[in-house]
Amino acid sequence: MEEERILSPGIENKNEERFENSLRPKNLEEYIGQTKVKENMKIYIESAKKRKEALDHCLFYGPPGLGKTTLSNIIANEMNSNIKITSGPAIEKPGDLAAILTSLSEFDILFIDEIHRLSKTVEEILYPALEDYTLDIVIGKGPSAKSIRIDLPKFTLIGATTKAGSLTTPLRDRFGIVHRLELYSVEDLSTIVKRSSKILEIEIDENATIEIARRSRGTPRIANRLLKRVRDYAIVLGDGKITLKIAKLALNKLEIDELGLDEIDRRILETMIVQYSGRPVGIEALAATIGEELDTIEDVYEPYLIQIGFIARTLRGRQVLAPAYQHLGYSYEDNI
Ligand code: ADE
Repeated sequence: MEEERILSPGIENKNEERFENSLRPKNLEEYIGQTKVKENMKIYIESAKKRKEALDHCLFYGPPGLGKTTLSNIIANEMNSNIKITSGPAIEKPGDLAAILTSLSEFDILFIDEIHRLSKTVEEILYPALEDYTLDIVIGKGPSAKSIRIDLPKFTLIGATTKAGSLTTPLRDRFGIVHRLELYSVEDLSTIVKRSSKILEIEIDENATIEIARRSRGTPRIANRLLKRVRDYAIVLGDGKITLKIAKLALNKLEIDELGLDEIDRRILETMIVQYSGRPVGIEALAATIGEELDTIEDVYEPYLIQIGFIARTLRGRQVLAPAYQHLGYSYEDNI
C-alpha cells in the first residue's frame, strides 16, 4: 500500500476528492488568490460572452494542488457552459478522443488534466480540433482507406499540467490563453483556511489559521488537509475549537515543521548539504541518492524550496542556499 503523505499535493482517494469538492469555490468572486489569473480570465470570459463565441483554449500550469481543476470548473460556471473532465493518461487511443470530441455541445468546456501525458497520435487528432473545430478520421485500412472530415461544435479546451516544459510546441501554440498558477501567500492561505472552517463549521482562532497557512507550503489542498487533521486533535484533546496551541501541537505531531517542510524536504536538503557538500547537484543524481522519483522532486518539492529561497536552479545543477543550512542547524561557513 502507498504510504499516506500528509503533504503530498495529489488527491489521495475518493474521500479526499469529496472533501475537496465540498470546499471548492463556485465562482471567480469566491476564488481566493491568483489575482492576475482571475482578473485576466474575468475579462476574457466577459468578452467571449458578449461576442457569443467560445472562450479561447486555455492552458494552466504550475505545481499540483493550486486549483487548476477548481478554476476550470469556475470558468465553466461563469460561461454557463457544461464541463467534461478527463486526463491525458485516460485518453489512450485517437478513437477515445474522437468519441469525447463528438459528444461535445457548442461552447462546452473540455478539461484535460495532465495534458502533457497525451500520446503523439492522440495529440495529432487534437490539432485540427483546436484550430478549426474539425475532426479528421481515417476509415478502413490500406488502399481503400478513406479520410473523412467531421465538423465539431465550437468548444473550449482547458489543459492543465505541472510540466509546461514537457508540452510539445505545436500543442502549446494552440492555446490562446496561457497562465502559470503561483504558490499562494500565507495571507491568502489563511483566508482559505478561514473560509473552509466556516463551511465545515469548525471554530478556529485567527492565529491558528495563520499557523496552518504558514505550514501549507503555498498550497490550498495542503491547507485544507491540515485543517482537517488539526480539527481531530482539537476534538480529542480540547473542546473542538482550534486554538494556536492545539494547531502547533497537532502540526508538530504530523512532523511538519514551522515552514511546512516534511521529512522528504529535509532529506533533500540534508543530502545536498552533507553528501554533496553544498556543491551544485544534478536532479537525476539527487533523485537517485534519496530514492525519490525525479518528477516528484521537480514538480512537488522543488517549487516550494525555491520559493522560500532554500535552493536555486543553476546551470550546473541544484544549489542549496544559506537559509537551508540555518533552518536545518548546519553551519554554512563551515561547509563553504
Ligand atoms: N479552496 C481551494 N482553493 C481555493 C481558492 N483559491 N479559493 C478559495 N477556496 C479554495
